[in-house]
Amino acid sequence: MKSKALAHSNIALIKYWGKKDPKLFLPWNSSVSMTLDRLYTVTEVEFSPEFKEDTIIVNGEKLEGEKKEKVVRHLNLIRHIGKTDLKARVVSENNFPFGAGLASSASAFAALTLAATSALGLELSKKELSIISRQGSGSSCRSIYGGFVEWKAGNISEESYAEQIAPKEHWDVRDVIAIVQKEEKKVSSRAGMAQTVETCPFFMKRVEEVGKYLPKLIKAILDKDFKTLGEITEFDCLSMHATMLTTKPMLLYWSPETVRIIKEVVSWREEGIEAYFTVDAGPNVHVITLPEYVKEVEKRLSEIQGVKEVISCGIGDDTKVI
Ligand code: PMV
Repeated sequence: MKSKALAHSNIALIKYWGKKDPKLFLPWNSSVSMTLDRLYTVTEVEFSPEFKEDTIIVNGEKLEGEKKEKVVRHLNLIRHIGKTDLKARVVSENNFPFGAGLASSASAFAALTLAATSALGLELSKKELSIISRQGSGSSCRSIYGGFVEWKAGNISEESYAEQIAPKEHWDVRDVIAIVQKEEKKVSSRAGMAQTVETCPFFMKRVEEVGKYLPKLIKAILDKDFKTLGEITEFDCLSMHATMLTTKPMLLYWSPETVRIIKEVVSWREEGIEAYFTVDAGPNVHVITLPEYVKEVEKRLSEIQGVKEVISCGIGDDTKVI
């Protein structure tokens, strides 16, 4: 009763920020992402009657408290589906900095979902895996698929799952990430988005607007229209951060370096470099670009004061058992 899975992280081009059902992880708006090849989690899960309690080890460290609880809650959901009460040992390794706005929870919960369900011998469709994974971490439901992915918000649990828009072979889009901070953020996505839904007076306006531009982004992906993809990606990022800023107390995930990089990326476009920024709930900046500009973008990003590391990603594959 042991299985190992590999899941890639993803970067949202249209962000998920806010749940209408916090228990079931039903989001207010649908979101769109691309799966990232270079950032991934490998997780091994074993169930055994010999285990007296669940043990969770992430990057060599045994989890305790709230972090452990999040994983145990997800294991409980999977145990309920698999009709077992066996305890588990989970060993997980991320190949990238944890909790730095790089959506480590996306690859972590996608890998956990597949490893745990397959360790229990459950044969589930990708749609079913996506529905389960969503309830561990919303963004993880998109990581079940490679390529370009849409998470359809839905109104009930069975309607809220991810679907592939196009496989990775469809279009070679890159994400060059400028890491300016590796430490874990102070306000988690979960707490931050709950606070935003509750107190941001513009939150529902954002949800309404996403509904208008999401079909345009999907069309841009299918038509390989990079300019439209970039413009919608930037606008949506700023729209999400605008709701964060107008939350009480305010949520400002950016650092001075974030602003510096954003301004640079915008000015590079005037020189003909097709590059667009997006920022998750953290200070690091993702620069979405095309293969021909990657070398130049990497060079320029690494020359900006405060950039600690540059990680270049292509598009990744589905979550799979290894
Ligand atoms: O699913 P979580 O709790 O990792 O939240 C993800 C939130 C963002 O990364 C900011 C946006 C997104 O859609 O990935």
